[in-house]
Amino acid sequence: MALLTQAIRGTGDVLPADSHRWQHIEKTLLETAKLYGFREIRTPVFEHTELFVRSVGDTTDVVQKEMYTFDDNGGRSITLRPEGTAGAVRAFLEHGLHNEALPQKVSYVTSCYRYEKPQAGRLREFHQFGVECFGAAEPAADAEVISLAASAFEALGIKNLSLEINSIGCPECRAKFYDALREYFSSHKDELCETCLGRLDRNPMRILDCKSPVCKGIAKDAPTVLDYICDDCRDHFDRVKAYLDQMNIRYIVNPTIVRGLDYYTRTVFEFVSTDLGAQSTVCGGGRYDGLVEQMGGPKTAALGFAVGLERLNMIMQAQGCEVPQEKTCDVYIAPMGDNAAKMALKLATMLREEGFFAETDIVGRGLKAQMKYANKIGAKFTVVLGDNEIVEGKANLKCMSTGEQTEVQIPDGLVDKIYDLTISTSLQNLTDAIDEQFKSVNP
Ligand code: HAM
Repeated sequence: MALLTQAIRGTGDVLPADSHRWQHIEKTLLETAKLYGFREIRTPVFEHTELFVRSVGDTTDVVQKEMYTFDDNGGRSITLRPEGTAGAVRAFLEHGLHNEALPQKVSYVTSCYRYEKPQAGRLREFHQFGVECFGAAEPAADAEVISLAASAFEALGIKNLSLEINSIGCPECRAKFYDALREYFSSHKDELCETCLGRLDRNPMRILDCKSPVCKGIAKDAPTVLDYICDDCRDHFDRVKAYLDQMNIRYIVNPTIVRGLDYYTRTVFEFVSTDLGAQSTVCGGGRYDGLVEQMGGPKTAALGFAVGLERLNMIMQAQGCEVPQEKTCDVYIAPMGDNAAKMALKLATMLREEGFFAETDIVGRGLKAQMKYANKIGAKFTVVLGDNEIVEGKANLKCMSTGEQTEVQIPDGLVDKIYDLTISTSLQNLTDAIDEQFKSVNP
């Protein structure tokens, strides 16, 4: 029976008490992207397996070990997306966005699926906010995309992330690097894990991000890519750094970053946090200038990044970042008897039509239980309706925080009264906030 009442390992629920937190995070990220001209794209949760094999790369951990792949009833091999870039590239090509004005800039919030060993910050279903920019080859684009990520973190009040950047060159300069890696790892052949042995010939760079502790230990002294990049790639990297300097975006060059997906070229970067424990990378991205062409499209320089939302939320919680309070019930209407119940529904509808959050009894509780419920949901005002109130056309409106009561005409006077009271409360809150601010400046 436990199976029926337990979510699958590595997955989680967002309960109503927490959903406003996620809404705030997602809204802030998408709105920041909008300020940079990125508009939302939504792609399917599953795609042809081949799409991920070809783009993410068949020697990566993601493709070799982590994909949720199955045959559908039509016998097609389908995979739940392990990341957002491949689907965005597929949609870019399928809908001919390369024929529109370039650059095309898209953003997304999506669920992703990877069969990894679950631990803090590592899930099997997780969520990413990401952006992809197609048709921009200049170093200014790299700096702009990195700056977008930095602004998004700032907008959420996150501090102390460190930005690490590297260049992994282009396919030409990488050939020399691969030779150097092959030579180095060949002398450790009998220590490498089986997967890495298979990578040695085809893609030795993947050995650098193997999760096995032995391979990790060997990789520590391996040649680093920055020593092998060509003049053009070095110039591109230098110009990216100059832009970041100019924008006062602090970074460190970490020559060991190679990223775990195969499509990257030139600039790669990660934002890491000390608030995350072992899974310290909250955001990863970079250029993928060859991917669109490799998928059958025209030569199109491209770049982007993705942020893991669960990791982002962990950092926000560790740092106590503020999240706006969730809106609570403005008015709870407590009816006693059938006639009152009808009037209560009418009043609730009138309030909702004016944008107020109103609730009334829908479970047939007595007055005492209703007031207890109104308290629990944090209602700002309550109105009790009995037969007398219906006959006389007036009722008492009670402010739950002060206990003050005012008489209102029903049905027509209630909405106006609530307007007056909420505006005066908002004004009072504003005045209090200004006073506080003034006191902190002039103690
Ligand atoms: P990625 O580095 O594989 O890159 O993932 C991006 C982020 O997703 C990670 O930094 C991490 O925060 C989060 N993440 C990854 N795996 C998990 C997991 N199992 N559980 C929780 N969070 C996780 C990409 O996915 C690229 N598509 C990014 C990109 C976009 N590059 C260019 N454009």
